[in-house]
Amino acid sequence: MQTQISRAKSVFITGASSGLGRQMAIEFARRGYRLALTARRLDLLEALQLELQRQGAPAVFVAALDVTDEAAVTQVFADARAFLGSLDIVAANAGIGHNGRIGKLAFAKVRDTINTNITGFMATVDAAMQCFTAQGYGHLVGISSVAAFRGIPAGGVYGASKAAVTAYLQALRAECYGGPILVTTLSPGFIDTPINRGAKSRPFVIPVEQGGKLLVDLIEKRVECATVPRWPWALVARLIAILPTAVIARFR
Ligand SMILES: NC(=O)c1ccc[n+]([C@@H]2O[C@H](COP(=O)([O-])OP(=O)(O)OC[C@H]3O[C@@H](n4cnc5c(N)ncnc54)[C@H](OP(=O)(O)O)[C@@H]3O)[C@@H](O)[C@H]2O)c1
Repeated sequence: MQTQISRAKSVFITGASSGLGRQMAIEFARRGYRLALTARRLDLLEALQLELQRQGAPAVFVAALDVTDEAAVTQVFADARAFLGSLDIVAANAGIGHNGRIGKLAFAKVRDTINTNITGFMATVDAAMQCFTAQGYGHLVGISSVAAFRGIPAGGVYGASKAAVTAYLQALRAECYGGPILVTTLSPGFIDTPINRGAKSRPFVIPVEQGGKLLVDLIEKRVECATVPRWPWALVARLIAILPTAVIARFR
């Protein structure tokens, strides 16, 4: 049973059933935040809810949510807000990653990636902005990727979807400039989660526990943009953006 409690800061996370979303939930709970956790796999969210409540988390709302269903996104935001009273932070984190060369990757996977990482992301941001506007403040956090900095072979649709996330948040940050709504873009490198376990190589990979802590540290610092971890990815991201195509073509 979910009972309403208010007080400490609250955070709404999409894609909280696994990987970075789950680890951010654990880290935020450890720091005393009230939580609204969403993803499609409700069984995993309920198991996490139990675990966090046993560890003393003050309030944990969970709900099944497919971010590609915009009506459901609106409804779950309303339910979470009714439960928590307000939403201080929204982490638009849900995402999928399909790799394959253009023309070879099944187009259904291209469409799924766009639907989840762009349409679902934008539906989440839209609902968050309506909530923040109504309450007069809020902090929107979007999880992009270092893949946004340069399209690489077999990473076309994923990189394009994350470039869209980064550009969308740049526009939103400018729209919100000087006002009470803050916009943060976090661009992880490789953090050990199911999304990249099949990858041929994962340079500079870090454990998910470290990744979750770094993400929450950056959110609490209210940074505008950061790679995660900052180093070496802040440098790699700048380098990769200017490498000639002949060099990028060797990334296979
Ligand atoms: N791990 C990395 O190295 C890395 C690097 C750069 C960026 N990222 C980004 O970080 C975010 C989290 O990825 P992760 O590494 O934690 O991968 P993950 O372990 O595979 O988690 C992905 C999460 O997204 C949720 N999700 C997928 N499709 C969804 C949908 N249609 N509606 C709602 N939730 C959905 C999944 O939950 P359900 O299946 O239960 O719905 C799951 O909780 C993604 O946006 C990813 O692109 C990760």
